Amino acid sequence: MYMAEKVLETVDLVKIFKDSYEVKALDNVSCFVEAGEILGVVGESGSGKSTLARAVTRLINVDSGSIILNGNDITGLKGKEMRKIYNDIQMVFQDAVSSFDARLTIEKNIDEVLENFTSLNRKQRKEKIKQLLRTVGLKEEYLTRKPLELSGGECQRAAIARAIATNPKLLICDEATSALDVSMQAQIVKMLKKLAVELNIAILFISHDLAIVNGLCDRVLVMYHGKVVESGKATEVICNPQDDYTKKLKASVFI
Ligand SMILES: Nc1ncnc2c1ncn2[C@@H]1O[C@H](COP(=O)(O)OP(=O)(O)OP(=O)(O)O)[C@@H](O)[C@H]1O
Ligand SMILES: [Mg+2]
Repeated sequence: MYMAEKVLETVDLVKIFKDSYEVKALDNVSCFVEAGEILGVVGESGSGKSTLARAVTRLINVDSGSIILNGNDITGLKGKEMRKIYNDIQMVFQDAVSSFDARLTIEKNIDEVLENFTSLNRKQRKEKIKQLLRTVGLKEEYLTRKPLELSGGECQRAAIARAIATNPKLLICDEATSALDVSMQAQIVKMLKKLAVELNIAILFISHDLAIVNGLCDRVLVMYHGKVVESGKATEVICNPQDDYTKKLKASVFI
């Protein structure tokens, strides 16, 4: 029987932020994403979506639960051990421009990643950068442009090119299309679908836009107050939600 490879699995993740009052930002969150699959994460503002992303990338420590990447428990990894898996997980954010060094060209920005994380020589890196730009649908002339000389959509493409430069197994997009207009969103969505299939990358796609998630994702998690309240095939969950919160979320979007 064909068994798809689980790239990421989280088991009962709990994260409590303690400020003036306690917030359970992740309340026993269990989920998985397989290679070549796109998992949508939806929920209102403050429901814990970005906290999940930050926990998975180990930018924050969780209070309990485990994070399994390619079958290895990475929950407690530190320093050098953690550095080894940085290549396997990459993130793309809403604000692509500010994720780049504005003083450097797109080529130099991407080259920094290749220089640090691969053993390619200068010539090979240049070829790789050209190939990456082609993959995300940017012409070669963008190599010499600076981030602020690109449109929002083009910049997001460049950010995705940089994110896939190290051949990650998992790509996390946190509201990566939210700042773009509808036609740009559609193009990025098409590209992400292609990346998942052609490069066999697992994608965790965080968004508040149910319509986009419906069009892009294979499965979806609906989060509310840190809990997964519903999950399943994206079209089924979004077109025919069972949970009251998902129903409300859907109604609030389409009103
Ligand atoms: N570093 C922090 N310190 C204290 N509380 C935090 C911290 N980060 C997040 N939180 C709280 O955790 C909860 C979940 O936040 P999170 O950023 O994960 O939400 P989100 O679903 O990504 O929201 P949005 O759609 O607005 O991006 C919120 O109540 C937030 O205030
Ligand atoms: Mg967020």
